[in-house]
Amino acid sequence: MAFVTFENVGKVYKTGDVEVRALHNVSFKIEKGEICVVVGQSGAGKTTLLNILGGMDTLTEGHVLLDGRDISTLNEKQMATYRRFDIGFVFQFYNLIPNLTAVENVEIASQLSKDPLDSMAVMKQVGLADRALNFPAQLSGGEQQRVAIARALAKNPKLLLCDEPTGALDYETGKAILKLLQDTCRKSGMTVVIITHNSALTAMADRVVKIKNGTVASVSINENPESIENIEW
Ligand SMILES: Nc1ncnc2c1ncn2[C@@H]1O[C@H](COP(=O)(O)OP(=O)(O)O)[C@@H](O)[C@H]1O
Ligand SMILES: [Mg+2]
Repeated sequence: MAFVTFENVGKVYKTGDVEVRALHNVSFKIEKGEICVVVGQSGAGKTTLLNILGGMDTLTEGHVLLDGRDISTLNEKQMATYRRFDIGFVFQFYNLIPNLTAVENVEIASQLSKDPLDSMAVMKQVGLADRALNFPAQLSGGEQQRVAIARALAKNPKLLLCDEPTGALDYETGKAILKLLQDTCRKSGMTVVIITHNSALTAMADRVVKIKNGTVASVSINENPESIENIEW
């Protein structure tokens, strides 16, 4: 059984009388320890897919399984537990708490977890041991995203989900963030899903899921994923 399975997933957003079909018939799987890049144009349904996988949104059709467990049947309380223990999330705009230091931002997330990693050790892992006592406003965008990654990793989640993690960063900084994600996946065996609209990034993945108009256009496997240093765009 695959680590992540999407089975004929559909999602319709209803706002009053207006229905938007964001996903239909989405089926794919991800194996444990893989880097999966989900690629597609703006509006294709990538964020909807990731939010369903992360327990931040619910599907209207189909099933999603993580590690053998059907998360599409969880009630709200179970869903909160799932988000809390199983999922690390990295967003485009970092979303750090401004009046907590970098390491406190990591600490607060690790306190939610059953089996957290040591916050300072994770700050070191992301290359920010010497900036641990800085507040977010004293850090660059790339450094703030490193803190956000540390915060997600410190929970020691089953799955790390990243929605356009370099969308707000310049080229070199974005590349360094992707290198951190790639190295982390390789070293710790963490399963990582990265959403992007940049098709050059597909070369770094073990598995590429292309989303078009709310459904899977193709799934491909890279037998020899490129190191991010060797990818230019
Ligand atoms: N909360 C929502 N309510 C209504 N429509 C939404 C909502 N979120 C997303 N959509 C719509 O669903 C489609 C897919 O959006 P999204 O998953 O954000 O795509 P992507 O991340 O690939 O840009 C778009 O047409 C978008 O307008
Ligand atoms: Mg999106």
